[in-house]
Amino acid sequence: MIERSVKDNLPVRELITGSESISPDTRVSILAERFYNEPNLDSLPLVKNGHPCGLASRGKILTTLAIRFGFALYGRKPISVIADTTPLVVHTDDTLNEVLGQAMARSFNDIYDAILVVDDEDKYVGWLSVKRLVIEQGNFLAKSIVQRELAISKAVEIEKLDKMKTSFMAHVTHELRSPITAIVGFAELMQMRFARQQLEDFPKYLSLLSSSSQNLRSIVNNILDLSKIEAGRMEVFNEDFSLCELLSEVLETCKMLVGEKPLSIEVDCPDPPATLYGDRIKIHQILLNLASNAIKYSDRGIIVISAKMTDELQLTVKDTGIGIKKTDLQRLFSAFDQLEDAKTRRHEGTGLGLNITKQLVQLLGGRINVESTFGVGSRFDVIIPQNIQNIVQEAS
Ligand SMILES: Nc1ncnc2c1ncn2[C@@H]1O[C@H](COP(=O)(O)OP(=O)(O)OP(=O)(O)O)[C@@H](O)[C@H]1O
Ligand SMILES: [Mg+2]
Repeated sequence: MIERSVKDNLPVRELITGSESISPDTRVSILAERFYNEPNLDSLPLVKNGHPCGLASRGKILTTLAIRFGFALYGRKPISVIADTTPLVVHTDDTLNEVLGQAMARSFNDIYDAILVVDDEDKYVGWLSVKRLVIEQGNFLAKSIVQRELAISKAVEIEKLDKMKTSFMAHVTHELRSPITAIVGFAELMQMRFARQQLEDFPKYLSLLSSSSQNLRSIVNNILDLSKIEAGRMEVFNEDFSLCELLSEVLETCKMLVGEKPLSIEVDCPDPPATLYGDRIKIHQILLNLASNAIKYSDRGIIVISAKMTDELQLTVKDTGIGIKKTDLQRLFSAFDQLEDAKTRRHEGTGLGLNITKQLVQLLGGRINVESTFGVGSRFDVIIPQNIQNIVQEAS
């Protein structure tokens, strides 16, 4: 907006196209010759004693000469006879806007391509091309429209990000509060019971303390991981590792997460077992994020965690849980998004797990796919390209 008023207020002295002029005594035939030879020449100002006194325009001169006996009648006459005597004359300090306004206020026949510019003493300084002025302003308008559109879309984007941040903060604060409240509560309860030597419920309290601490740790880890990824500071660290050992580690953690649910977990290890060269910790985290979701979002049934080696590493986590609606699939991997309504939500979580998982997979050069049927179950497939030369088959 500011730029627009600056441009509109540009004095026309800065837009002068040329300063050529001719004497009003120049013969019509000489000027006609110029117009024939210079197809881009539209008009020439007439100047006498430094003051403008008319405008010789191409259209007028060539049509006058084209009429019957035109050349004979006018060819030898001075140009002042057939020139336009009322060209638009403006001051060097007039602004682009003012000049365009004055030009448009004229009757159509009086609009010529050249506008003459004079100084304080009404002396001719140069001429402006109306075409150029219109193009200048058109360009400027187009630019300012594009700039305005960009500014609007940026503002919308910032507002969206802002809303996401606010809802994320509210969400995370809420998620952090539950385990912290539990930890503080149980610790105080245990202190009181300990003072009275009532120790019988201690194993139960310790196990609740432990699960709340783990919950807290995983939320904090998620937030730290995400900020590390967003800041581009998450690095890949490759090492040799046994795929089957990694699957058993994941299985052990999953068993703890299942708790009392009637859920069985199967692990399908590739045969023959492979030693891979890759980022073990990230592959572990990817599998655990998917498996913990499978457990969280299944009330019963079977969860299968499998790994297959071809020239790529394919990891699959399949569950018989609540499934995901087709319409929700596209926002599954966005950060801070949980598909369940915040008010009726049954499951805890920050909504970061799948976003982090996807970013980790991409960091390893891989891709993640999901297939799901609402009410039936879900299947997540992760494909990570493996450099075949780095894969050593374990001696069986
Ligand atoms: N296996 C699954 N079955 C059904 N719904 C799922 C499954 N995995 C993820 N979802 C849905 O996708 C949402 C996003 O998953 P994500 O792992 O990112 O977050 P979360 O599990 O809610 O929280 P967090 O992983 O941060 O603790 C979940 O809230 C859930 O609604
Ligand atoms: Mg999750």
